[in-house]
Amino acid sequence: MRQPFFAANWKMNKSIAESGAFISSLVDKLGESASGIGSQFAVVVAPPYTHLGLLADSVGDSRVQISAQNCGVAKSGAFTGEISPSVLKELGCDWAIIGHSERRHVFKEDEILLVARSKAALTESLGVIFCVGETLQDRRAGNTMKVVEGQLRSLGQLSGNSLSRMVLAYEPVWAIGTGENATPAQAEEVHAFMREWVGKAFSKDAAEAVRILYGGSVKPDNAEVIMAQPDVDGLLVGGASLEPVTFAGVVLGGLKGKKLR
Ligand code: PGA
Repeated sequence: MRQPFFAANWKMNKSIAESGAFISSLVDKLGESASGIGSQFAVVVAPPYTHLGLLADSVGDSRVQISAQNCGVAKSGAFTGEISPSVLKELGCDWAIIGHSERRHVFKEDEILLVARSKAALTESLGVIFCVGETLQDRRAGNTMKVVEGQLRSLGQLSGNSLSRMVLAYEPVWAIGTGENATPAQAEEVHAFMREWVGKAFSKDAAEAVRILYGGSVKPDNAEVIMAQPDVDGLLVGGASLEPVTFAGVVLGGLKGKKLR
């Protein structure tokens, strides 16, 4: 079975002071209810760059790993405003989110840039959470799979070994921050399509192993039904990840969906 993976994407929220007690509180909330499940699931928190050092220090030997929300395209060089993947590693980061819909749509990051960011992160031994997803217009026009396939295509140039250090995330743009999540069936349909794509582009084993997260208005009360879908391996959570109690509720709900609780 693929190890369930839950990621908190704080986006540009929380002051450094506000983030101080988050990890200990989260670990506390997960602690007892998730005891016995051991290392069977992963929990990742992605704060803004400026908070990474503090959060990485507070993780200690808990199960929580830290992710950046983006990643520079090279180890060093003339890239004003960017952060090097080796510095992210130095800060204690394990992951980088690449291609989030806000990076694609608000900051116009394209496939060439996103694959360069992914390669740079992987070279420095960061795992990559690579996001794809269609807009409402795409969905209404019946273009969901075409758009998702187009966003995945550039990953085809990576090696199978690189893919094994990546997690994919399906986040329909219309579901992000809107309160309107994809139905479990809508999520499953796209996840199954993405897994099939990995099978064709890499191998059957890679398709079986790759974890695919769903993101878009995930909350404690919809985590279980979404995670109950066979091709949904985890959740990428924005708004509901800002409070430890709510995020723990998502994680525990998700584990229930996989019958781990
Ligand atoms: P949301 O955001 O949970 O607030 O919809 C998800 C995301 O953007 O990753």
